[in-house]
Amino acid sequence: MRLLVTGGAGFIGSNFILYWLKKYPEDKVVNLDKLTYAGNLENLKSIEKNPNYEFVHGDICNPQLVNSLTSKTDVIIHFAAESHVDRSIMDPAPFIKTNIEGTYVLLEAALKNKVSRFHHVSTDEVFGALPLNSKELFDAKTPYAPRSPYSASKASSDHLVRAYHTTYNLPITISNCSNNFGPLQFPEKLIPLTITNILEGKKVPVYGDGLYVRDWLYVEDHCRAIDLILKKGKLGRTYLIGGLTEDIPNIEVIKKILKKMNQDESLIEYVKDRPGHDRRYAIDWSESERELGYHPTYSFDEYLEKTIDWYIENKSWWQSIKTGKYLEYYDKQYNR
Ligand code: NAD
Ligand code: DAU
Repeated sequence: MRLLVTGGAGFIGSNFILYWLKKYPEDKVVNLDKLTYAGNLENLKSIEKNPNYEFVHGDICNPQLVNSLTSKTDVIIHFAAESHVDRSIMDPAPFIKTNIEGTYVLLEAALKNKVSRFHHVSTDEVFGALPLNSKELFDAKTPYAPRSPYSASKASSDHLVRAYHTTYNLPITISNCSNNFGPLQFPEKLIPLTITNILEGKKVPVYGDGLYVRDWLYVEDHCRAIDLILKKGKLGRTYLIGGLTEDIPNIEVIKKILKKMNQDESLIEYVKDRPGHDRRYAIDWSESERELGYHPTYSFDEYLEKTIDWYIENKSWWQSIKTGKYLEYYDKQYNR
């Protein structure tokens, strides 16, 4: 099978390519990535000489390039996006361009070249926010109610993908997943930011009261879920993918990391809240379990520890990122 993976140099995309070529070494993977600040070819160093892997440096908004790659593709797995909520609040423009227009360009090429599957990787943020201390969960029938420029752009892309199925019968599937964590995550996101700040002896910023809740999903469980959707998913369907945590507030996640790294809580610093901050996300993945056999397997505590170890063992990976433009962003975001 020939796969076109977009955004394969980012966090989840690179984990997915490594997962896929290990499990299906006969398949051919083309990775189309613009290498924005979040793309890093270091992530794929171990396979760069693999004859079944090819990297193409380019933009999903470029119709000629996307069309020519898609003409040699069976399946598209679309990860490429601007993915950080705080950056979308600072400057929504690249989110609108890549997440909406880029998805449209890919859909047109997929239709023209009759791909056998277009899998769109989306987020639980399209459903908005759940109340704290409730048992409510997001499921595939939850109405869309995005609240940030990031989630609104992802919601738009989901609607476009569905419309191409309904109107043109394009063979699509969508996954809406919760917060991924694991190796190779860019250190602007909560878990790698906390770990790397601790390793640098810096304060750990907590937005607002710290009582916001995310549903944590180990990245390899997510990769396996996409694999299951490609094999068993029904065309036109949306699958929700979540992890094993039950309502752990951010402050508790940070305290767990501090404890595992033998640090005391004096490093915690409460900072200005994120505007429009979604209170709680929680996923009901039972339908994905029934239909696909999906079940998250990686326990949060154990794999949080493994993630910490990965950042300790791979200092050069993140130290080379936390320089230059990253520091400009960091100073602006945290008013340093
Ligand atoms: P990331 O920011 O780490 O990586 C995004 C990748 O896309 C980068 O390699 C970047 O260079 C590339 N890219 C950006 N714009 C591009 C363009 N115009 N053309 C080609 N490539 C471009 O993101 P991630 O965390 O790996 O997320 C991947 C996907 O999963 C995104 O669609 C995101 O919305 C979705 N998602 C992420 C999470 C999470 O917790 N990280 C959860 C739910 C859904
Ligand atoms: O839910 C899926 C989404 O998860 C994905 O669609 C996004 O691409 C991904 O970035 C992530 O979004 P979040 O906004 O939930 O992730 P982030 O790591 O930015 O923040 C997690 C929580 O931690 C959130 O409640 C905000 C809080 N936070 C974050 C940062 C960066 C802090 O308290 N301090 C921080 O410095």
